[in-house]
Amino acid sequence: MDVNNTSRARAAGYSRTSLATQQADFNQHLLEAAQQLNLVVISNRVSAFDPLQPKTGGLAAALEPVVEHSGAVWMGSSGKLGDGSQTLGIAEHGQGRVAKLDLPRKHYSGYYDGFANSILWPALHSLPDRMAASTNHYESYQEINKFVADAAFQFRDRDAIWVHDYHFLPLGAGLQKLGVDKPIGFFLHTPWPEPKMMEQVPNHRELMQSMLAYDLLGFQTNWDLKNFRDCLRNHLGLEFEHGVVIGASGHTRCQTFPIGIDPKQFARNASESLAKPDPYVSVLLKKLGGAKLAIGVDRLDYTKGIDQRIKALDQVLAAEPRSIVLLQVATSSRPEIDAYRTYKRDVAGLVDRVNDNHGLEEWRPIIYENSPFSQAQLAGLYRAARIGLVTPLRDGMNLVAKEYVAAQDPNDPGVLVLSKFAGAAEIFDQNEALLVDPAHPDEIAAAISEAANMPRKERVQRWRAMMDKLEEYTIHDWSAHFIQELHKSRVTVRAVPTSSLLD
Ligand code: G6P
Repeated sequence: MDVNNTSRARAAGYSRTSLATQQADFNQHLLEAAQQLNLVVISNRVSAFDPLQPKTGGLAAALEPVVEHSGAVWMGSSGKLGDGSQTLGIAEHGQGRVAKLDLPRKHYSGYYDGFANSILWPALHSLPDRMAASTNHYESYQEINKFVADAAFQFRDRDAIWVHDYHFLPLGAGLQKLGVDKPIGFFLHTPWPEPKMMEQVPNHRELMQSMLAYDLLGFQTNWDLKNFRDCLRNHLGLEFEHGVVIGASGHTRCQTFPIGIDPKQFARNASESLAKPDPYVSVLLKKLGGAKLAIGVDRLDYTKGIDQRIKALDQVLAAEPRSIVLLQVATSSRPEIDAYRTYKRDVAGLVDRVNDNHGLEEWRPIIYENSPFSQAQLAGLYRAARIGLVTPLRDGMNLVAKEYVAAQDPNDPGVLVLSKFAGAAEIFDQNEALLVDPAHPDEIAAAISEAANMPRKERVQRWRAMMDKLEEYTIHDWSAHFIQELHKSRVTVRAVPTSSLLD
């Protein structure tokens, strides 16, 4: 396959339908694209590559096959801390390799708990009150980025480098400084905020300046891309021309790549769960006692709006007792950070309160689980749930919204209640999902009641439209699309603005 031809075809009309019909062999196209590019992928966490463990998250599902079949290298943290020596633990996975680094103990907490997750994470999600004003740790963040750049330098002979997420905003600049002259792309999984919010991030100008060392910057949605453009203008005095910005180190193309899932795989998992019901699901269904099941699946993170969702349930149950049971899966996250510990405590308190207020001896309205479920189990649970509650205060995309849709019974689907501030709300409109303001429990409560009482015909119509969109641009399309665009940087595009970009 000619990667450039495919890229051009996409840029010209972005033939989504034909991509959907060719879904079966698109995976192969993705591998071929990656094979031609001899890629290095860098992210803070790397996938477990354990066939016995379910692949959690889109990145693992998308990139494991790329690494195994194309010979790509995936580099990231080993999860262990070291003394600062540059030793890479390399494991072969199919034709590719995973390279794990022990990040230096001295700077880890300042980098991960500090600048990345107590400054950048809340700022990127437009939640300034959650920023830890007393901890900056910018120096540690830069030191870890430098350390990772030094380690990645040994892969400089490869064709291109694809860096992921807010942990590594200045990594491209570090690589460039070391003399790497191959195309370097970056994809931000989180949102990008408005200029006023970004202003509160210490060293925001320097950080944004360093991002312009990347040849390609990918964002989830048009909202993020617009905010980035406004930040460039306000904070650096730079203008976008046809999606290209010219900084000190040359051209950087900025585009959206809305991350997807593998809907067929999820639908298969959901159907299989019916043939062989999971004991957990069977017991859960017996506990409903005539109520409809709603489901929420999140990391225990204050961006996810779990507290407001529980307050909404409180209102629904006050108006219609015993009408809904919520299964809330909330897996522990970033436990060293105060804001996360407090949030965990607050959510647990709210769950107890609602269960006390509305529960009966043999019936509880909230089933609260803190352990993760496998993807296969989740697919069965999503299918059993009449209502999918995805109400983050702000989210890059939110793949749970997409997984919930993909797992539904086409003849009797459930309804997605979706935050209008999740990236997924740029994909699913109000004729498809029930869009809500996640900070207003009364809006969420009204949507829960509407979803619980929605006629089947309307549910099918809404679901079909969402499912078509999921099939049009899958996780495989997403990675192939990014890799193809990165490949273009290698050939010509550094100097040629493309027409498909947001101006
Ligand atoms: C978000 C981020 C990812 C991160 C994940 C889990 O989805 O965008 O980069 O890996 O959260 O967070 P953790 O801090 O546990 O890696």
